[in-house]
Amino acid sequence: MTLENLKTPSLILDVDRMTRNAERMTARAKALNVNLRPHVKTHKCVEIAKIQTTGNASGIMVSTLAEARYFLQNGFTDITYGVPIEAGKFAEAIEIAKNCERFSVLTDDTATVESLNKTARAENIKLDVFVKIDCGYHRCGIEPHTLEAVEIPRLITDSSNLNFAGILTHAGQSYHARTPEELLAVAQTERDSMRDLAQNLSDKNLSAPTVSIGSTPTITAVDNLEGITEARCGNYIFFDAFQATLGSCSFDDCALTVLAAVVHQDRTRRKIIVDAGAIALSKDRGAVEIDPDCGYGHVLDLAGNDLNLRVSSLSQEHGEIDVSNEAIFQRLKVGSRVRILANHSCLTAAQHSHYHVLKDEQIVDCWEISRGW
Ligand SMILES: Cc1ncc(COP(=O)(O)O)c(C=O)c1O
Repeated sequence: MTLENLKTPSLILDVDRMTRNAERMTARAKALNVNLRPHVKTHKCVEIAKIQTTGNASGIMVSTLAEARYFLQNGFTDITYGVPIEAGKFAEAIEIAKNCERFSVLTDDTATVESLNKTARAENIKLDVFVKIDCGYHRCGIEPHTLEAVEIPRLITDSSNLNFAGILTHAGQSYHARTPEELLAVAQTERDSMRDLAQNLSDKNLSAPTVSIGSTPTITAVDNLEGITEARCGNYIFFDAFQATLGSCSFDDCALTVLAAVVHQDRTRRKIIVDAGAIALSKDRGAVEIDPDCGYGHVLDLAGNDLNLRVSSLSQEHGEIDVSNEAIFQRLKVGSRVRILANHSCLTAAQHSHYHVLKDEQIVDCWEISRGW
């Protein structure tokens, strides 16, 4: 099977690029002297997680309990659940923890610590709990200089059925950096705020076993990670148009594209339509602060060369590509195929059921994506 006869739209994974991305990040984590804990929500796929954990400590982070169950069933036994836990998920989390060598959850909420401890005690289990810290993203977490940033670790440490696993943050604001200098500053803030909090806790006899940070842009940009023990990044395994624009990678590192067919030409309005719409690509925006015209993806030929066209608009199953060059109408007739490099590979992958694995221009395998909650 080749890209000429696979049905469209389909998700295409360039396995050599992906493996190279995995090896580079493993080497980078080693050079920075931290454990790498890949965030597997990017791909939700066992085959990829195995490649990605080769040569590192093999712990992973997940973003749903469904991912936790799926990776546990497939042999992964050191898992951190990356969304703050709430009471509706206690029973399922405890069930997973009973079958897992190390299953950690996170919280930033005092009442949750108390109720989780009660539930764990009733189930006769001890749970590993991280405290989620906000290093500037302002999505979840406690700000590192507040009283709570010490009080919650103390409460966990003093709880009969909880272990204080450490402190954990994610500098998601890195995605909005406009220059390499801004990105480096975000990466340094992520590192320094966690290193200083770990020191503050240690001064109060609350040693944090793990000091965990991570996003693909910050781990790529940071100069050193002194004081940090763990890096969690996910997107690097595929990269995407967003990361290439931000400078975390080159466009040639991007491993995931969507194969699409031209279904209509509109010479009057100078556009062509492909059969990859919002469902196949996701409607996530690119690095608009840097490239306001990024649209919803770059259009490549089947060999992966950029045709200098963008997907400018999406409906459910249609993607619109603006065309100013007459030669493109000759080249991309109805039935022709293109590959679309979407803005955000994590969201694109999560919309599909399988990766079609591309090697040396052949589809050599098909890997399942585990979805749901
Ligand atoms: C809590 C947490 N940790 C780590 C990551 C990994 O970030 P990235 O995909 O930029 O590597 C994410 C991504 O959303 C996250 O939410």
